Amino acid sequence: MSDSRRKILVTSALPYANGSPHMGHLVEYIQTDIWVRFQKLRGHDCIYVCASDSHGTPIMLKARELGITPEELTEGYSKEFVNDFADFGIGFDNYHTTHSPENEALVASMYRKLRDSGDIYSRTIEQMYDEREGMFLPDRFVMGTCPNCKAEDQYGDACENCNKATSPETLIDPKSVLSGTTPVKRESEHFFFRLSDYEDRLRQWMRDSALDKNVVSKLEEWFEAGLQDWDISRDAPYFGFRIPETQDKYFYVWLDAPVGYMASFKHLCDRRDDLEFDEYWAAGSDAELYHFIGKDIMYFHTLFWPAVLNGSGYRTPTSVFAHGFLTVDGQKMSKSRGTFIKARTYLDNLNPEFLRYYYAAKLGPTIEDIDLNLEDFVARVNSDLVGKLVNIASRCAGFIHKRFDGELARELPDEALFAQVADASETIAGHYERREYSKAMRLIMALADKANRYIDDHKPWVMAKDEDRLPDVQLVCTQGINLFRSLMIYLAPVLPTVAAATREFLGEDSWQWQDAVTPRLGATVRKFKPLLMRVEASQVEKMVEQSKQNAPAPAAVDDEYISIDDFMKVDLRIARIEQAEPVEGADKLLALTLDLGDGRRQVFAGIKAAYDPAELEGRHVIVVANLAPRKMRFGVSEGMVLAAGPGGEDIFLLSPDDGAAPGMRVK
Ligand code: 2FM
Ligand code: ZN
Repeated sequence: MSDSRRKILVTSALPYANGSPHMGHLVEYIQTDIWVRFQKLRGHDCIYVCASDSHGTPIMLKARELGITPEELTEGYSKEFVNDFADFGIGFDNYHTTHSPENEALVASMYRKLRDSGDIYSRTIEQMYDEREGMFLPDRFVMGTCPNCKAEDQYGDACENCNKATSPETLIDPKSVLSGTTPVKRESEHFFFRLSDYEDRLRQWMRDSALDKNVVSKLEEWFEAGLQDWDISRDAPYFGFRIPETQDKYFYVWLDAPVGYMASFKHLCDRRDDLEFDEYWAAGSDAELYHFIGKDIMYFHTLFWPAVLNGSGYRTPTSVFAHGFLTVDGQKMSKSRGTFIKARTYLDNLNPEFLRYYYAAKLGPTIEDIDLNLEDFVARVNSDLVGKLVNIASRCAGFIHKRFDGELARELPDEALFAQVADASETIAGHYERREYSKAMRLIMALADKANRYIDDHKPWVMAKDEDRLPDVQLVCTQGINLFRSLMIYLAPVLPTVAAATREFLGEDSWQWQDAVTPRLGATVRKFKPLLMRVEASQVEKMVEQSKQNAPAPAAVDDEYISIDDFMKVDLRIARIEQAEPVEGADKLLALTLDLGDGRRQVFAGIKAAYDPAELEGRHVIVVANLAPRKMRFGVSEGMVLAAGPGGEDIFLLSPDDGAAPGMRVK
């Protein structure tokens, strides 16, 4: 081992316990689990904790809808998480819940520390209140028309049409999602955390923690925009912890959720004599602390969380590792296409280690999204795992077992080749450490290719026909099995079950990373059982089919189609090009001044390679008139001109027949 024994605490984001685990969740848990298994294999004290995120309005309302308590709801889903994750080989040291006594005690004590040091203040604010339901409405529980682009049915936090932030108060004609009634404004006292006071400390934390550059640039953006104080309270009814010294105020779910990391660890410490809570969490702790999260919850983990920890006297995270989202076959997971695949549906059809390998082969340390391409999945698993990796062992093991009573030779015939595999040890370890799993997988598979070439060159099945050459058969197969063994040690973080079966075949109890650089010679191996079977495309098809059936009965509208209402939202108009001119500094754009019948607009269009500006003046075109204005480097673009074709010189403006006049609606 190149560095001394480290104390490392690792977490994955706590999943909301109001839905089943699916392929999207698994990206994070598999990514984290590989890293944790790698650290353990390197001999470090690495602890991996998680928990169900059990509080908040959606959980309270779902339980109410089902006629059960929130505790019953979250316990049910927690069991699913525990079982499904275990079957995917996710080796948590502890899985707890945020609705636990440990969490309640920690949250209360941290809150009191923050309050007593002046980091929390109260202020009366106005919020939307549903009189029929008797509750204040979270932003997403109010819908109405966007004040900016006038799109209907938008949530009170952001408009999906123009992407602008909205608020329940500014929506036009707001309605409660719960009762359909018009909410009223009502005052209530709320508690705020003074995040604005933490800017310097957070900037320092950002410099000290090895964050991915994408995360740093997001943070810079947030600092630039100015840190806003954070509302950490919610009014009853709410499923969560009551704020100490209040009657009916509750902690917002996002305050107690990350404290759930600490609480899960505390729960583990209470059952393990070798673990001390303070050793990992006290300010100045020399243990490392890493949070694996999705890119959508960076704000909570890189601003609120370090600030809350610091303000309440604890250590801050060593780093936060964010990953991207999952797409399946290049698109958002879709129930109707059968690509919203639950973890259990996958497990009913396919080997979990295949997915672990596939994700590893795609994962890097950035927030880029990753794609599960189902055809590529079948091809890659068959070619890499079955065709390359397991093939090494299956071509050698039978001879050793049948012809040599399972005994491996006492030396290697090609030490230089073994050394090539052994010498890659630290490079591969570096890739794992930096979460460059795709690089690690590529290197391991390149070494597997070399091992296969060695066997192809020596052809033990030909040698075995000649009694005089039997000693060579033993040597060549010992070489092959040792190359396989080292590669399996490198892959053990990704393929824990195949690694365990390989160890059993080799008669070894446990592995450490370093074992990969020393060959196993003269030992007896057991009878070889096939380690992995090929995947058939039909298995994947069946899984997709089952996922379609799991989906709710097809609604008239789903994510493959837009509804007629969606279509009607697009305001297409005839416009007359009054002026067209090149844009300084833009190779492809023309600035068009358009007459839409009710005034002039400026639109930038990428048609410069295809049209001479002078020829465009006076021409009629079709325009999306209600596209939200976009600020570009050269000015604001206030619509979009419709054209066909791939682009460049091959772009053709759509023109109406004579008679169409500016402002006419296109039907
Ligand atoms: O976004 C989510 O799914 C949250 N339940 C994650 C919480 S992570 C942590 F802070 F608890
Ligand atoms: Zn809008």
